[in-house]
Parts: sequence; structure tokens; C-alpha cells
Amino acid sequence: MATTDKLFAGSIPEIYDRLLVPLIFESCASDLADRVAGAGPETILEIAAGTGALTRALAARLPDARIMATDLNQPMLDRAAERQPPGQIEWKQADALALPFEDESFDAVACQFGAMFFPDKVQGYSEARRVLKRGGRYLFNVWDRISANEFADVVTEALVAVFPHDPPRFMARTPHGYHDIARIRRELEAAGFVDIAVEAVDGVSKAASPRIPAIAICQGTPLRNEIEARDATRLEEATERAAEAVARRFGNGAVEGRIRALVIAARR
Ligand SMILES: C[S@@+](CC[C@H](N)C(=O)[O-])C[C@H]1O[C@@H](n2cnc3c(N)ncnc32)[C@H](O)[C@@H]1O
Repeated sequence: MATTDKLFAGSIPEIYDRLLVPLIFESCASDLADRVAGAGPETILEIAAGTGALTRALAARLPDARIMATDLNQPMLDRAAERQPPGQIEWKQADALALPFEDESFDAVACQFGAMFFPDKVQGYSEARRVLKRGGRYLFNVWDRISANEFADVVTEALVAVFPHDPPRFMARTPHGYHDIARIRRELEAAGFVDIAVEAVDGVSKAASPRIPAIAICQGTPLRNEIEARDATRLEEATERAAEAVARRFGNGAVEGRIRALVIAARR
């Protein structure tokens, strides 16, 4: 993983939250929140909460639960806190690999599309298990391979023409780089989890125009860091090439692309 892959700061949190969350994160948050709520937890730790897509879905389903929402990048949590009134949720900057909580503190731990960013997966899972109460559940999701997630795939391929000698591969490398189910199971088991279940969940992401997924992915994710590291003056050109590729594949009006996530449940 490149060092800039974990950097969600600058203009990224606002664009991520405004464009990418409605495009691909809200429907998955609804699915994951239903699964977390099914266990009726009173205390929940959320890891890699970002701008709070899952946090809001959890709060809506579990109004009496206490939610501790954490993320490595404070600017993501600042954006989340702007959208959600204080009260039920506490926002706290924390690295998933070194959680600042006592052992056995939470009934459930949830993480939406964060595990792919853990530089050491077993360490990240071990920390989740350490802070879970005995019998507590860890519920999280990861994206399936990039070919099953069409906007990310088309945008990534479009950027090869913009930077042919060194194409930016953030989307393939990190968000869509951790989908080997056998590996996920092995790493959870190495951290001590039991009763591991993995389910593929298919969806469709919709946008009013091809430019929306292009801006969301090129400018609202750490792909932006990678493009700017190559040539900061070419961000708009790269976004436009991506939008043209989305339009060629899905049409010039409203667009729809397939998405697929893997949803994982495990027990301490
Ligand atoms: C794709 S975003 C998902 C955010 C949010 N869960 C959502 O559904 O919109 C990945 C998040 O992982 C966070 N992250 C990256 N590395 C992390 C780490 N080591 N510990 C905690 N969070 C991390 C990033 O700051 C970012 O907010």
C-alpha cells in the first residue's frame, strides 16, 4: 500500500461525502447497519468511520445504543460531526491498529470498507477482538475485485491513457485489493475470531451524469493524491477523461454501475 493511500484530507473529505457516499456507501451502510442492529448491541465501536455513512445508519436503527466512531483521519470525522448532532455518537481519532480503549469494552465492533486500509490485517483484527466483550460480534465489509465494481474499473482503466508510463492504481491496489475470502478467513482466525461467515452482496450505484462518478473517484478519494503526485495541473484533465470513459460505457445521461461487496461476520 502506498503511503498516500490512507490520506483522506484536504478537499477529499467534502467531495467524498457529497458525491461518493450517496453513490456507493449509503446502500452498503444500510445493509451493514441492519446486520449490526440484529444483535441488539448497547455499545458499538465503529472503526474507520470516515464521514459517518455507517454511523448515521447505526444511530437511526439503535437510538439507545452508545456509538464510539473512530477514524485515522481527523478531517473525515470533522465532516461527519458537522452532519450529525452530538449526543449518541462520540467521534474520536484512532488508528485501527492501536485502539485507545480498554479490553472488552464493546458489545459490537463495526467497520465499513476500512479493513483494506489496515497495513497489518491481523493486528487490526486483533485490536477489534481485544476491545470486544466475550461473545461480541465483529461485522465489516470490503469491496470485491475491481472488475465487479464497474465505475471504479472504468475510471482506473481510463487513467492509463492519461499517465501511460505510470498509471495511478489506487482503486485496484487498496479499496479493491482485499477480496480473497480464504485470506480474510485465515487472518480473522489468526486474530482469534470464530464463527466466521462471508456473504457477497450485489448492488447498483446510480448517478445523474457520468461526471459524478468521475469526480467522486478521481477527486474524492486518495486517487487524487496519486494523480497530483504525477502532475497536479492535470487533475481536471484526468477527471474529464474518466467522465468520457464512463459516458462511453454507460451513456451520456443518468448512469448505473454494478457494485459488489463482501460482508463478513465473526464472533469473539
Ligand atoms: C473508504 S473509507 C470508508 C469510510 C466510511 N466507513 C464509509 O463507509 O464511508 C476508508 C476510511 O479508512 C480510514 N482509515 C485508513 N487507515 C486507517 C487506519 N489505520 N485506522 C483507522 N482508519 C483508517 C480512512 O481515513 C477512511 O476514512
